[in-house]
Amino acid sequence: MARDWIAILDFGSQYTHLIARRIRECGVYSEIVPYNIKAENLSARMPKAIVLSGGPASVTSTKSPSCDKDIFKIGLPILGICYGAQLMAKLLGGKVAKAKTREYGKAILRARSRKDLLKGLSAKEQVWMSHGDKITKLPRGFDIVGSTDNARIAAMADERRRLYGVQFHPEVVHTPKGKRILRNFLINIAGCRADWSMHSFVKASVRELRERIGSEKVLCALSGGVDSSVLALLLHKAIGKNLIAIFVDNGLLRKDEARSVRQKFKGRYHINLKTVDAREKFLKALKGVTDPEKKRKIIGRVFIEIFEKEAKRSGRIRFLAQGTLYPDVIESRSAFGGPSATIKTHHNVGGLPRHLKFGLIEPLRELFKDEVRLLGKELGLSAEMVHRQPFPGPGLAVRIIGTITEARLDILREADWVLIDEIKRSGLYRKLWQSFSVLLPVRTVGVMGDERTYENVVAVRAVTSKDAMTANWAKLPYGLLESISSRIINEVRGVNRVVYDISSKPPSTIEWE
Ligand code: XMP
Repeated sequence: MARDWIAILDFGSQYTHLIARRIRECGVYSEIVPYNIKAENLSARMPKAIVLSGGPASVTSTKSPSCDKDIFKIGLPILGICYGAQLMAKLLGGKVAKAKTREYGKAILRARSRKDLLKGLSAKEQVWMSHGDKITKLPRGFDIVGSTDNARIAAMADERRRLYGVQFHPEVVHTPKGKRILRNFLINIAGCRADWSMHSFVKASVRELRERIGSEKVLCALSGGVDSSVLALLLHKAIGKNLIAIFVDNGLLRKDEARSVRQKFKGRYHINLKTVDAREKFLKALKGVTDPEKKRKIIGRVFIEIFEKEAKRSGRIRFLAQGTLYPDVIESRSAFGGPSATIKTHHNVGGLPRHLKFGLIEPLRELFKDEVRLLGKELGLSAEMVHRQPFPGPGLAVRIIGTITEARLDILREADWVLIDEIKRSGLYRKLWQSFSVLLPVRTVGVMGDERTYENVVAVRAVTSKDAMTANWAKLPYGLLESISSRIINEVRGVNRVVYDISSKPPSTIEWE
């Protein structure tokens, strides 16, 4: 039986992903599609309902994005949110005008009708507004079902045709009953089954993977990070020993990391894991290199060389599995995403080049990052692994400023180990997006006992973030900073000074290189 799903037409709102998330949290699968999708193509994919997202444009402008008007003729329930509601009003014969005052922030919705879309709400509810235009005249067949002080038509409905528009944002937490409104739309109005969960996702994925792969072999690169670990576990559940996971020890990993990955995945999860010890190869290729982009490119190239060689050695392999996530998928096909400058060449063990002649398997491509964590939990991945902070593909190479040597790697490994130990003890590990040490290419003077020292500086970086696109430096308690500093200086040979990085992104980046 095909699963129920909701199509979200994306008009470029910063909240579109949030709409998708909230709908899935209601137990209904949702997907974001381009705003200009043809009605017949949408209809062929058989969604149970359609949501029109918000967006930054104004429907009063001639250049504003519009959807195929025929989607209103498919007969499916449609919910327009903010821009989506205004567009619905305009296309169906209502009127939208620039509001005298922009409304941004909390407002009180007075519900006129508390059934159907607004069922279960109180007469007054807090909602979140963010709009410049407002609907001034209802399209034919619509009634006002809710108003705020600033927007007489804050919620409108044509219950007969199952068309709805809300000026506020039900998807944000500042609209406390927003999820109830979405659930009313999804379950009561559109008649969706609320049966999408990680458990059902695993069952369906395993079945689909088995059907597609049969008795062929699949290769994947495992780094021990959340995405590749979850990918490997899911495939292992589906095809067992026919999954060959390759773990490349590039010598740029943190203390004890290589051993722990081997022990977990081979020992505990019984995955068919091949470890390649490429430490020397990477160190040799990186010898004397100081330029950050050069480092990144070399690491990417050497990794691919090794992976290709291993692939050849593994015999006949038809498929390659990658841990592509949903945000990567939408980013690459977003209707609004323009080309952006390369800030850093990313190396990611998941991102192998297409010229490798494999069929591509991407079972996580429907999921958001925190859904991947939930999936990991469902698959029995330990809490420690599920909540690991991200670690970049080029590893410690981009955290040693200047040349990389075995001796400098050792210093950084020890310093980072102490830092993470302190952060974990303080209970802040999961609250921080990332926390790590950076080894600087400077030596400074210090005094230990009665001796003069002339040693390395370690910079500590800790940031909070939602998605790594922006980040704030973390306001770590002074007491914690003090113990981090004193422990690193006392316990790590070769370090006599610790500094704290107080830069946010932008204009800085999270990693130093
Ligand atoms: P920046 O330093 O650009 O990093 O603010 C944003 C996020 O991406 C991680 N990062 C990487 N991840 N391969 C990865 O898989 C890479 O080459 C890479 N470079 C940076 C970084 O740790 C942060 O979370």
